[in-house]
Amino acid sequence: MPLNERHILVGITGGIAAYKTASLVRLLVKAGAEVKVIMTETAQNFVTPLTFSVLSKNPVFTTSHQRDTGKWNSHVELGQWADLFVIAPASANTLAKAATGIADNLLLTTYLSAKCPIAFAPAMDLDMYAHETTQKNLATLKKRGHLILEPTSGELASGLSGTGRMQEPEDIFDAITKVFQKKKSFSKKSFLITSGPTYEAIDPVRFIGNHSSGKMGIALAEELAQRGASVFLITGPTHQPINHPAIKRIDVLSADEMYAEAIKLFPKVNGAIMAAAVADYKVKHKAKTKLKRTGDELTLTLIPNQDIAAALGKQKKEHQVIVGFALETNDEENHATKKLIAKNLDFIVLNSLKDKGAGFGTDTNKITIIDRKNNIRKFELKEKSKVAQDIIDYLENWIK
Ligand code: CTP
Repeated sequence: MPLNERHILVGITGGIAAYKTASLVRLLVKAGAEVKVIMTETAQNFVTPLTFSVLSKNPVFTTSHQRDTGKWNSHVELGQWADLFVIAPASANTLAKAATGIADNLLLTTYLSAKCPIAFAPAMDLDMYAHETTQKNLATLKKRGHLILEPTSGELASGLSGTGRMQEPEDIFDAITKVFQKKKSFSKKSFLITSGPTYEAIDPVRFIGNHSSGKMGIALAEELAQRGASVFLITGPTHQPINHPAIKRIDVLSADEMYAEAIKLFPKVNGAIMAAAVADYKVKHKAKTKLKRTGDELTLTLIPNQDIAAALGKQKKEHQVIVGFALETNDEENHATKKLIAKNLDFIVLNSLKDKGAGFGTDTNKITIIDRKNNIRKFELKEKSKVAQDIIDYLENWIK
């Protein structure tokens, strides 16, 4: 039972669909989940906290401070308690506040504190739903990695007909179940992932770097962790949050530091994914003090960095797998295949800068996988989290 003993936090905002959430809570409790409910003030105009307290077998949270008992309901505790937070119904108002970070009630402060997967089931009148600003807010929340359970079309409380009906409780229940159903195909396996850019120091304040955001490597780490692997993420400087407890983050700056960590860890893992954009060169003579502007030309001598992927490829044992990346601008498949062989990789993920939406800094990627058995598989342009799923699906066939 995927929901057995799972902690499900249900947030209810103001909307007539709130009555349907009672059935959702019943389904969750019946499936063995432990359920806690947060209601906004407006939600309580539609349904009473008592209904949810009886159904969830827990007190219902409405404010951060319970005036009658003097008890403080900590949003941080609630956010950390939850294995999943579902907001159903999610009103246009709450979607807007969540998208922009407004935290003027317990539901929203908890939203900002939660580390778990978060799902929104919007419910509102058709024009509110179709409104440009609501659509923009939904896009922001989606981009943040939240699950949007798109409303369905039909008769609405206003008497009008259109899109805006909250999904049926059974459908929301199924979507929640799916989150916990991911195959644990990588349990007892460990991987190292290199990710992000490297910074090669010129002097104490300047460096040579690149535009890699680290998003692809982190998406891969999260996908592997969700499927049961333990992951060492060796990452160059990145602003991306890393959320899964099974990911051990190791921060590095330069290619040399990344190399040292990767070489140390590789013998302990089942495989490595080389997603970092490693600088090919470093400055030969790093200045110990800040270089002064002289007005003259300045020449920096660069020397090659070690190729981390190739070094691991040399050490690779029978039970280990190495996945590489290639970002190419021309003659893409040919260049990628050469790298696959030269670095002794098992497969290589190619992205071409010719494809719009692929490569650095974007939230999407378009890949082709080329493997050692001469298979070539092309994928559509997708969000990086979905691309990570495709790559890890592919990896499943290579783990020994
Ligand atoms: N890579 C690495 N260490 C390096 C350079 C690259 O581990 N010093 C890895 C990358 O993480 C990637 C693969 O090797 O998985 C290919 O990287 P890429 O930069 O495309 O290849 P290079 O061998 O540097 O070739 P070039 O820059 O000339 O295209």
